[in-house]
Amino acid sequence: MTDYDLVDTDEADTPGDEWEELDVSDDESDRIARTQDREFQEFRKRIEDTEQFKVEASVFDDATLGALYKLVQDGYIRAFGGPLSTGKEANVYLAGSDDEDVAVKIYRINASDFRAMREYLDGDPRFEGIGSDKKKVVVAWTRKEFANLQRAQAAGVRVPDPIAVQRNVLVMEFLGRDGQRGRRLSEVSVENPETAFEVIREYMRRLYRVGLVHGDLSEYNIVVHGDQLYVLDLGQAVTTHHPNSREFLDRDCENVAAFFTRQGHEVDSESLVSYVTEPDPEP
Ligand SMILES: Nc1ncnc2c1ncn2[C@@H]1O[C@H](COP(=O)(O)OP(=O)(O)O)[C@@H](O)[C@H]1O
Ligand SMILES: [Mg+2]
Repeated sequence: MTDYDLVDTDEADTPGDEWEELDVSDDESDRIARTQDREFQEFRKRIEDTEQFKVEASVFDDATLGALYKLVQDGYIRAFGGPLSTGKEANVYLAGSDDEDVAVKIYRINASDFRAMREYLDGDPRFEGIGSDKKKVVVAWTRKEFANLQRAQAAGVRVPDPIAVQRNVLVMEFLGRDGQRGRRLSEVSVENPETAFEVIREYMRRLYRVGLVHGDLSEYNIVVHGDQLYVLDLGQAVTTHHPNSREFLDRDCENVAAFFTRQGHEVDSESLVSYVTEPDPEP
């Protein structure tokens, strides 16, 4: 029987309410892609010939390859493994670095659903003045996921450790063992739904208290790793200042409540909202 526990908040930093600006200007990846030097050409050919990239390589634009090249040069990635997931907006790959496996999430510039993204971006103070340039939006989105992971981690929520971000590519801790990804909560039989629920509820409250609402929380974005629960996929998470943050929070609570109720631990979605939004007695 697994007993999940929480990160002690005394160990966690308490972030303030300041938001760093998201810089979406051209970076090293764009420069690499533009200069098309020989080493980059070789890297590109190598990537395009790699079995696991056969299908997707055509989807990667030059600057995405430039970003991967930069991450390899900087030592964050040594070799690519297979895909862990191919989603609507992003693909996630297993990769090796010098010390341990990492997960590499690559957002697609072209295939992304911009209408859906806009719903989350409009109203987020970090995106003011970004405009509607596709590339800029995806780059900002990737940086936002990185920043959200850092903020969640600082608040004592278990998330994959964010390692590096380059343009539309995010490198993070790999949750899994021997190359096998950790199971999603939707894929395991939850032996002790009550404890699992208490942990998730606390994660949601901690996120809320540092000004974040996940916005896509469900059993599909929670992973079991080393006997603990981790929250994934923070790209769409919005600040509590966002005009729709309450709607997103209600939806997250409904998903979580429905899941645990199906697992035999009855949860009322409205009481979950009240729990999550209860003011911090010692701010
Ligand atoms: N850091 C990670 N470690 C292990 N598996 C991961 C990691 N990040 C993502 N995954 C796997 O990839 C899937 C998709 O990742 P996610 O961030 O949820 O992207 P999407 O936006 O496509 O849903 C997850 O459900 C999980 O199975
Ligand atoms: Mg997901």
